[in-house]
Amino acid sequence: MKILVCKDYAQMSEKAARIFAAQLILKPNSVLGLATGSTPEGMYASLVEKYNEGKIDFADVTSFNLDEYYQLPVENDQSYDYFMKKHLFNHVNIENFNLPNGMVEDVEAECKAYEERIEAAGGIDIQVLGIGKNGHIGFNEPDSVFIKNTHLVELTPSTIEANSRFFASEEEVPKKAVSMGIGTILKSKKIVLLASGEGKADAIAKTVYGDIDPMVPATALQLHNDVIIILDEAAASQLKP
Ligand code: F6R
Repeated sequence: MKILVCKDYAQMSEKAARIFAAQLILKPNSVLGLATGSTPEGMYASLVEKYNEGKIDFADVTSFNLDEYYQLPVENDQSYDYFMKKHLFNHVNIENFNLPNGMVEDVEAECKAYEERIEAAGGIDIQVLGIGKNGHIGFNEPDSVFIKNTHLVELTPSTIEANSRFFASEEEVPKKAVSMGIGTILKSKKIVLLASGEGKADAIAKTVYGDIDPMVPATALQLHNDVIIILDEAAASQLKP
């Protein structure tokens, strides 16, 4: 794991955006793995800026998002589809973007088809991840086992509470989501994990120093040979100097 500590959120976001921009310059038809949540917002804003400056192009890009809420229509302003359009897709010339479809009847078939679509696109070249306070990545919550493939997840009370800041009340937060599995994430050729703020410091320390343990899903990243962790100083505060 390579760890980069930045002064603040802005610097973290810029560094991550430059890594993604470099990827697109080197391989214009890259397959990107994308995340939602507050953490990558700054990175997306910087990528939009670089696109407007003519430095990067998304015409040949394919993207796959990590996750989507289950049974939340895409028109809902809290759906991850809505988030991605608001922060990235509506502002760049991407045509081929994919999110798991949480509105299907046969969710098992959708999970299988999502894996196949990633495979058919040639696999993910670079995956951006945020991390939950409990160490979740995507919506892979602490569990007794690592779940390998895209699957339907029951969100934990801690994640529901964390996400309730975006909804009118905790009751409105969906209780399930469709998420790439740990195996799906580990198949990405390169992984960039971003974390900002004191609240993530414990999860980051466990990710870096802890035993590989499905109770802290991000520890599985220790098994990957190309992970860059980009942190602000607060998120890095529990790392040894
Ligand atoms: C979002 C996702 C989640 C978030 C995590 C952190 O697609 O997969 O794992 O990355 O919950 O969320 P924020 O960035 O809002 O702290």
